[in-house]
Parts: sequence; structure tokens; C-alpha cells
Amino acid sequence: MKQMSRANFGSKLGVILASAGSAVGLGNIWRFPFETGNHGGAAFILIYLGCVLFFGIPIMIAEFMIGRHSRTNTAGAYQILAPRTHWRWVGRMGVLAGFLILSYYSVVAGWTLEYICEAATNSFAGKSAQDFIASFNGFVGNPWRPVLWLIVFLLATHFIIVRGVEKGIEKSAKIMMPALFILLIVLGICSVTLPGAGEGLKFLLKPDFSKVNSNVLLSAMGQAFFSLSLGMGCLCTYASYFRNDTNLPRTALNVASIDTLVAILAGLIIFPAATSVNIPVDSGPSLLFITLPNVFLKAFGDVPMIAVILSVMFYVLLALAALTSTISLHEVVTAYLHEEFSMSRKKAAWLVTAGCTILGIFCSLSLGVGKDYTIFGLTLFDLFDFVTAKIMLPAGGFFIALFMGWYVDKKIVYDEISNRGTLKASTYRLLLFLLKYVAPIGIGLVFLNELGLFF
Ligand code: TRP
Repeated sequence: MKQMSRANFGSKLGVILASAGSAVGLGNIWRFPFETGNHGGAAFILIYLGCVLFFGIPIMIAEFMIGRHSRTNTAGAYQILAPRTHWRWVGRMGVLAGFLILSYYSVVAGWTLEYICEAATNSFAGKSAQDFIASFNGFVGNPWRPVLWLIVFLLATHFIIVRGVEKGIEKSAKIMMPALFILLIVLGICSVTLPGAGEGLKFLLKPDFSKVNSNVLLSAMGQAFFSLSLGMGCLCTYASYFRNDTNLPRTALNVASIDTLVAILAGLIIFPAATSVNIPVDSGPSLLFITLPNVFLKAFGDVPMIAVILSVMFYVLLALAALTSTISLHEVVTAYLHEEFSMSRKKAAWLVTAGCTILGIFCSLSLGVGKDYTIFGLTLFDLFDFVTAKIMLPAGGFFIALFMGWYVDKKIVYDEISNRGTLKASTYRLLLFLLKYVAPIGIGLVFLNELGLFF
């Protein structure tokens, strides 16, 4: 009966858009540029692309297979495929990671709401690059405003979640994704034509491998998992709503391509603009927020009308992209509580929203009034980011690869990849090879390397 009452994504496009909606978000537009800036530019991007290709895509297919085969939440999925084994801890760790990510991700998502207001009131006009830095720092350090926006954002996520999967997720992704894409291209063109953009382009396109160290490897790998929504059962939960005729490898390829394209486009907007107004490329989490207003101002400052319209559109789309991602994170934890503890969906959703609000408030305050309280030298915000993106997600991916590569019956793997023999499944052997050897060994080596074992 449980299976009968579960929703399904309506159309093929809906499947791709909902998964891409989860993948595309602040990870691409906010996190990718600042990680690239912190880790030396083009060389980081090349390593990142390698991680997407060799770890990301195979693990995404694996998550799809687990989810669609078991048709339940991520922790329950392991109970179905591997009853009474410790594999369920992979699912549980994923749920915990989702909860932690949602908490600090919503803080940044809240920032986008503040910037919608700033853009709408034309308050970028007449400011210098230094002013933008000062006003960002002032805002983030304020104990109230970011907290308020965080709560607004979590509530928006909450209400879409309680309205159900199909109506909420699919619809918002269908309109938002193409619009965001077009606007990114427009802004990219504006940015690369700014005076002084060449430096930024060089940083983005000309690899300098002398800067590559173990930290760069771990960061690129973590970014790949984060951006593709992998390693915690997020896409696994979505795949539990997929239809039986969804082509899993093709969907994974589409989602990964869209996600990567958006990240590269974001880089093309941020770096040329940053070098054009002398913003250091390694400004960290503030990079997007202090760089972008300069693009609107420099490219359209003469016609305030257009500057206002485009900037409002951009921040609204960014907020929506973040929303389709927070929905997917929230859904993982809500589906888990709802199905494993037989709570009503509404009660489960409220628990998640309330818990994330509390943790999110602490994360937000840790950037302002609580700056001096650090753990391992990191603020709570940075700690959540580090522990989830650089440890929990790659570790989750490692176990998911082992699970599908070695543990699960090969007939299930074949059935899922070929839709029970109705597709050709020419990638079956390659996929198994990647899941059995390449991904686990690769991820393992990056971890060992981080512990200082090689260089
Ligand atoms: N991938 C999303 C982004 O790029 C964030 C996200 C959504 C996520 N679901 C996830 C990250 C699951 C890790 C795991 O913004």
C-alpha cells in the first residue's frame, strides 16, 4: 500500500528538471566560483570535471538505481536492498548530512532574498566596489536581518514540501531553469566585455598546476558531490518517484551536463567582473555577493531601469534555484521521518523546518556576533560546510559505489539500467567498472592524500 500512495513525476522532462533543479543552485553559482577562486582557477576546474566524470556520473546512476528499485526514502532503501545489515547507516548518514546542509544552505539562500530587496530599491546605484564589500559585511554581521530571511526561506521550502512532490517541485523547476539559463548567458556576455576582464578569463581558462595540492583535490571532489547533490541519498529519494521507463544513465548525463554548464557560466560571470573592479578572487563565501552588483552597475548603470529589472530578475531566479535545492534537501529528511517513524508528513516536515531553523540561526550568527567562537579554527558555518561537503558526501559516495558495485545483486543493477531489458544498456560494463574500482579507489586516494600520505 505504501508504494501505491507514493507520487510519481509526471513527464520525462519533469524528471530531468526536478533532478536538475536539485543539482543547480547556490552550489553552482555561489560555491563553485569561490572554491575555484580559493584554489587557483583553471587547474581546480579541470580536476573538478574529472571528479564529475569519474565519480559523479556513476554515483548518480547508482543513487537513481537504489531509489527507483526500492521506491522509498534513502534509509529505508538500504533496508529493502540489504535487510538487517549495517548498510542502513549509509542512508542514515545521508539524512544527517542533508539536515546539516539544509541548515547552513538556507542562511545563504536567505542572503539572496536581501539582495532581491536591494536590487529592487536600486540601492546598488552610485556605489563603488569597496562599498559593496562594506555593505555585505555589515549585512551578514547584523544579528537580525539574515536570521529573518533565513526563516522566511525555510518557511517557503516548508510549504512547498507539504503541498507534495509533483505540484511543488516539478512546476517550479520547469519555469525557473530555462529562465535562469538565459539570464546567466546575458550576464556572462556583459561580464567578459567589461574593461579588465581579461585577467579573470585567464584565471578561469589557463591552468596553473603548480598550485595543486591535496587541499585542492579534496575541495574539487567535495564540490563535485555538493553541486551534483550526491552522496546523501538526495537523488536517490527523487528517483524513488521516477517512472519505470525513465532512462537512468541518460538522465544522469543530462543532469550532470546542465549542472556543470551552469557552474562554468557562473565562473564566466564572476571572475572577469572581479578582476575588472579589483576584487580578490579568493574572497571566499562573499565573492558572488560583492562581485555581482558591479556587473549590473558597470554594464547597465546608464539605464537604471534595465539595471533594476535585470538585477531583480537575477536574484529572484537565484533564490528560486536555491529553493528547488532546499526542497530536495528537506524532502530527504522529511521522507525519512515520515516513512521510518510513521509520522504524518506534515509533522515530519515541521520537525525538519524547526530543527534547521535553530541550527541555521547559529550558523548565521557565527558569521557575525559569534565570530570568535570557533571549532578547529572554523566558524560553525564553515564547519558545517567542511564536514558535509568534504567528508560526509564523498564518504557517502564511496559507500554507495561499493554498495552497487559489489554488494547488490547484479541482476538488479542490470534491470535498473536497462529498464528490465527494454533498453540496450550498452554502458552496463563500464558503469560496473567505474562503481567497483574507479570511484571507490579514487575517492579513497583523495582522502588518504588529505591525511598527508602522498604529498
Ligand atoms: N546541489 C545543490 C546546489 O548546487 C545543493 C544540494 C541540494 C545538495 N541537494 C543536495 C548538496 C544534496 C549536497 C547533497 O546548490
